Amino acid sequence: MRIDIITLLPELMDSPFSASILKRAADKGLVEIHFHQLRDYSTNKQNSVDDYQYGGGAGMVIGIEPISACIEHLKSERNYDEIIYMTPDGKTLNQGIANSLSMCDNILILCGHYKGVDQRVRDKYISLEISIGDFVLSGGELAACVVCDAVIRLIPGVLNDESSALSDSFQDDLLAPPVYTRPAEWQGMKVPEVLLSGHEAKIETWRHDQSIERTLKLRPDLLKDSEFE
Ligand code: ADE
Repeated sequence: MRIDIITLLPELMDSPFSASILKRAADKGLVEIHFHQLRDYSTNKQNSVDDYQYGGGAGMVIGIEPISACIEHLKSERNYDEIIYMTPDGKTLNQGIANSLSMCDNILILCGHYKGVDQRVRDKYISLEISIGDFVLSGGELAACVVCDAVIRLIPGVLNDESSALSDSFQDDLLAPPVYTRPAEWQGMKVPEVLLSGHEAKIETWRHDQSIERTLKLRPDLLKDSEFE
């Protein structure tokens, strides 16, 4: 998969991609991330990309021209499955969106800043608008990192044990069951007997029951349309 990211602050995104699973995915050649500095597409002497908003009001708006020049340049080199704009008024990211993005070959992500981008950019180029939650960040960069992490770990071959992504919370609209490791007893607190039994079918049933119980208790909204409610 190739992910192109248009941003004014590529340095904000260095560390998530240079450690752990995201780095390993890139080292294995399973994902390529390319940053594009929006200022490089500015046509004015100051390299500025923002301007006052029509109608007045606080906050600058990123203008159409540099974004359009950058997107047109990238689109002339490949077809994108999705052109995504990171914005608090987008669709809230969930596992379903991450799953479907993980099947794409080319994704382009535009990170906003200041008051956002001129609406006409959104109307003309954007196929998917994503929010990572009902709060406002200083820009789209950290949100784009969250999307990339959620997506890249799902690409086959990225995780060593592929089944581990399938047993994540939310994969069946259920939270994951509790997990334990050694010691089997700590300060009088014991690991549930069934997990020490070696009986695979019983363990599977216990985990499923725990998932349902946990979801009913912590996130009943996830079970709204399901058989467990
Ligand atoms: N940009 C600013 N806030 C954001 C959010 N919550 N999600 C995605 N992009 C954003």
